[in-house]
Amino acid sequence: MFGLAFRFGLENSDHYRKIRNRNHARSESCCNLKLDLKRKKFIYVEQTLKISVIGAGYVGLVTGGCLAGVGHEVVCTDNDLEKLKTLESGRLPIYEPGLDVVIAEARKEGRLSFRANMADAIRAGDAIFICVGTPPLPNGSADLSAIDHVARLVATEARSPKLVVEKSTVPAQTGQELKRALGVYGRNSGVKFSVASNPEFLREGTAVEDFLHPDRIVIGVEDDAAARQLREIYRPVLERSFHCPIHAGKCPDTALPAWLVTTINSAELIKHASNSFLALKISYANMVADQAERLGADIDEVVRAVGMDARIGTSFFRPGLGFGGFCLPKDLQAFVHLAEGSGVDFSMLKEAEKINKKRIENFMVKIRRALWVVKGKPVGVLGLAFKPNTDDIRFSPSIDLVQQLVAEGARVRVFDPEAMERAKAILPDVEFAKTAYDAAEGSEALIIATEWEQFHNLDWNRIHGAMSRPLILDGRNLLSPSEMKSHGFEYYSVGRPD
Ligand code: UDX
Repeated sequence: MFGLAFRFGLENSDHYRKIRNRNHARSESCCNLKLDLKRKKFIYVEQTLKISVIGAGYVGLVTGGCLAGVGHEVVCTDNDLEKLKTLESGRLPIYEPGLDVVIAEARKEGRLSFRANMADAIRAGDAIFICVGTPPLPNGSADLSAIDHVARLVATEARSPKLVVEKSTVPAQTGQELKRALGVYGRNSGVKFSVASNPEFLREGTAVEDFLHPDRIVIGVEDDAAARQLREIYRPVLERSFHCPIHAGKCPDTALPAWLVTTINSAELIKHASNSFLALKISYANMVADQAERLGADIDEVVRAVGMDARIGTSFFRPGLGFGGFCLPKDLQAFVHLAEGSGVDFSMLKEAEKINKKRIENFMVKIRRALWVVKGKPVGVLGLAFKPNTDDIRFSPSIDLVQQLVAEGARVRVFDPEAMERAKAILPDVEFAKTAYDAAEGSEALIIATEWEQFHNLDWNRIHGAMSRPLILDGRNLLSPSEMKSHGFEYYSVGRPD
């Protein structure tokens, strides 16, 4: 760059000094600076980076779709050919608000493509994001076989240097093993691999927004080159220089994401520590809710007041049926397993898991007390997904509750706005209602299991009229006790006076 500045007599200009200092401050490479001859100015040219994403699940599709959405060239692959066919046809295999628009637009602009040929997909990218599943093994540890499989493919199929990025949630020290595996499997290829960790903190239901507006982006790297490459990849997100599909370009004026560069081990630990702390916080709220019930106190007021302490915060402090989903339960288990392996006492997290596992039985006690006899009773259940705004039922507390009701002989009719298709496969003995009103029809109890906003806005007089006994049991404290009583319902919830 100096050469160019010198040739055009700009080497002493303030403009050139400012750019040079800014680049050095940001440890940015100068390769993406162009000299605009007409304006005798250096201008920054956004780089289109070539990215491969292996694994088209939640993390893979959101990562691939959003990185293409902010300007990069992304090839996404998966070993589930049915899933790729669905994606090729323009449909999504998952329900995730806003993701369909992001993917459709990026495909229309030719920046996102799906490829079944893994080798092609691997060769297409300079950076390869590994986004495959790491499900729990029976002993609670994370199953890393898919990562190992991808390492073998990358090591044998790559024909040029690659930055291999762990995006899947993995226990600490996985990056080291991945690096070793790439070296072993690729020993004859002569290709250079560098490894990095880039944990993802997106939540289902708000995944696109979480990816494009994160609190922080964490990378674990071995060298500056990898840090620079990842920074280029995330530059549009860091500078919010993208057209936002969620806010239609008018993004809230919140702080720009923090950029955290650390070691691979620390980055991996940050992910497990974050999710485990969220789980701990929810179990703490549930534990205090049980105490509030015994004392006739109101957990809503308690967590609101406790959460007002900025050191604690009110988010992720809602009691209820416990935490579920494909992340918190398994990450907690994997973190505990990791600690046991290194001789560290994580009994606190084990307690959080125990508290969480008891939520369904605690709530069943309320249901038995209210119904006296559960067997043979018609019961409506609203909500099957593990949380609202997703069709995901993996490790869903709502599903556990329905299965317990069925096991105790209740005649269960369920409704969920998005998750019923997936639930049909695992709930053979329940009726699937067309609407929430249909689920309430003739029932002697109606249970709120997932706090979909639309349940809050139901016509409760109509529900009252449809039920054979106006009894509501709210496992997510979605509704207001006084309001429900004003509608003439018997109403029970979690940690609040009956
Ligand atoms: C979680 C983490 O939030 C996210 O950062 C990470 O990347 C993936 O795992 P997700 O699994 O989508 O995201 O769900 P989340 O929104 O965290 O909810 C997890 C569970 O906790 C749900 O079952 C939810 O109902 C429950 N929950 C959440 C509570 O019971 N109380 C709360 O206050 C918040």
